[in-house]
Amino acid sequence: MQAEKYCWQQVLLHWISATVIIWVLVSGFYVAYLEVTQDTHHLIAFINVAMTTLFIPVFLLRWLVRLTKCKPRSLHDDPQGRRLAHLVHEGLYWITAIVLLSGVLMMDRAIDVFGWFSIAPLVSDPFWHRVWFRVHIASCLLLALGVSMHIAAVVLHELSGRRVLRRMLP
Ligand code: HEM
Ligand code: HEM
Repeated sequence: MQAEKYCWQQVLLHWISATVIIWVLVSGFYVAYLEVTQDTHHLIAFINVAMTTLFIPVFLLRWLVRLTKCKPRSLHDDPQGRRLAHLVHEGLYWITAIVLLSGVLMMDRAIDVFGWFSIAPLVSDPFWHRVWFRVHIASCLLLALGVSMHIAAVVLHELSGRRVLRRMLP
């Protein structure tokens, strides 16, 4: 018989990922489009670049755990709902991968991880910095849309009596 819940490793990695991604999306768009001082902008960019760089191995581990651990039975009885849920979940992994990759490749300066260590820029051509920056913004927008759909789906499931949240709790 298939499990009813995600295993604790998936639960832990899901909530670490959710916290990092929601924080970086909200604070990143906030400083990019609302009026803040230069110092605040730099501080948020410094924290977010360092935090998301540390998040890369966590994300890879999460993907690996997803591929190796068995998934709980789908909540959907209809094949269409099952397909949509699968598509959104799969999409979230792929878009996050593109956001992380484009973030690293758009860097025109060293990646400073909280002063602990730094990584030299991987790309030196300013043309490609601009291209990867555009890819970064576009994929961040797509990720924000995907995460909003995901959270809305969880709320709708809960409201209609399907206890989805406890599958992702310890
Ligand atoms: C408050 C925010 C969030 C809530 C309440 C939430 C809740 C959930 C729940 C209940 C599930 C289990 C779905 C099921 O049983 O089939 C789930 C799965 C998932 N969540 Fe979230 N989530 C949140 C944020 C996020 C964020 C920010 C991401 C990142 C992109 C994310 C990515 C995923 C993925 C990829 C799965 C599928 C896991 C798998 O099958 O491997 N979630 N989430
Ligand atoms: C989950 C991963 C990530 C998310 C959700 C994310 C999100 C964002 C968002 C929302 C913005 C603002 C975009 C705009 O200007 O419209 C941004 C900008 C930026 N991101 Fe990311 N990012 C992620 C990973 C990374 C990584 C891994 C790096 C580099 C190591 C990076 C470097 C940057 C830089 C340098 C900016 C411009 C900062 C500025 O000066 O305003 N990002 N990111």
